[in-house]
Amino acid sequence: SAAEKGGYDYFMLKEIAEQPKAVADTLLGRIDASGSLTLDEVRIPVAELREVDKVVIVACGTAFHAGLIAKYAIEHWTRIPCEVELASEFRYRDPILAARTLVVAISQSGETMDTLMALRHAREQGSKVLAICNTNGSTIPRESDAVLYTHAGPEVAVASTKAFLTQLVACYLVALYLGQVRGTKWGDEIDAVIRELAQIAGEVEQVLQTMEPVRELARSLADRNTVLFLGRHVGYPVALEGALKLKELAYMHAEGFAAGELKHGPIALIEEGVPVVVVVPSPRGRSVLHDKIVSNIQEIRARGARTIVIAEEGDEAVVPYADHLIRVPATPTLLQPLVATVPLQVFACELATARGNEVDQPRNLAKSVTVE
Ligand code: AGP
Repeated sequence: SAAEKGGYDYFMLKEIAEQPKAVADTLLGRIDASGSLTLDEVRIPVAELREVDKVVIVACGTAFHAGLIAKYAIEHWTRIPCEVELASEFRYRDPILAARTLVVAISQSGETMDTLMALRHAREQGSKVLAICNTNGSTIPRESDAVLYTHAGPEVAVASTKAFLTQLVACYLVALYLGQVRGTKWGDEIDAVIRELAQIAGEVEQVLQTMEPVRELARSLADRNTVLFLGRHVGYPVALEGALKLKELAYMHAEGFAAGELKHGPIALIEEGVPVVVVVPSPRGRSVLHDKIVSNIQEIRARGARTIVIAEEGDEAVVPYADHLIRVPATPTLLQPLVATVPLQVFACELATARGNEVDQPRNLAKSVTVE
């Protein structure tokens, strides 16, 4: 009913709008004023967490994209090797698992059969499993050793939005917590990340307030067949997520690429007028990547692409090559997906509407996939 949708036409619009509150709720009570983390619900003994020598993340779809981003944070902040695998592939390749492997299973519904089978397999091999889940008491957390709930509130639309942002927050918390229990030196970078997390809800809200041009752009592309997405570093999984949203909702051919792979094949797809969304890393800090992606934007534009550039405020280098420029607040590099994903959700939702598609219930899809 309209009341359930809180005045929005679709649950998806409501859930996109709820993201600032959702991320705030995921953080609530988990980082204290001194910047230290209390994740009491992670009932894996600290002594065991100190011994972890590998993290393996298993998930499907959008939750898998959260896992891909988590890998960058976990390895960079904790120096523990981290693998991310599609849950549906995991157990069939005889993965190497041991007591010191921490398996993190990410699932909004907690009922995804592929993810459940992957975690069962991991536990049979003696690994500890930590679930990151949005649904209280669902099967995946019940069968895991510990659970960190995302507290996004019920997500009704088939296309995941607020669950994704809160999965990211939960992944960052797990990474920071692993660092904390293992005594990682808490340098300036981690302090900056913790300070930033405290402001992130406001920044997501700020993005939401500036989405009208994105909706307009989406409507103007309603008769296209293809949209490509490029990103690097954590922007690469953001590109994959942008493409998945568009497939699900707009039924368009959409593909995400690592920008560094362009010259290894995908650039052959660039032709006159093809829209390409580029997620640009911050020019601060990792400026080498920034410069490389700016030259990618030049390259594809010279070949006719219509460039849709997502870049942080103050990044002037992209301006001459952006046919459409979408600004997001400046954040530490690893946290950029929290703001950069939002325009892609809005873009896909608006394109679906413009194409007359069922936004909350895309064809052929179910909210949770309870068969393998
Ligand atoms: C996301 O928009 C999709 N509907 C889908 O990829 C989903 O993320 C995937 O099926 C995993 O679901 P889960 O998080 O409930 O396990």
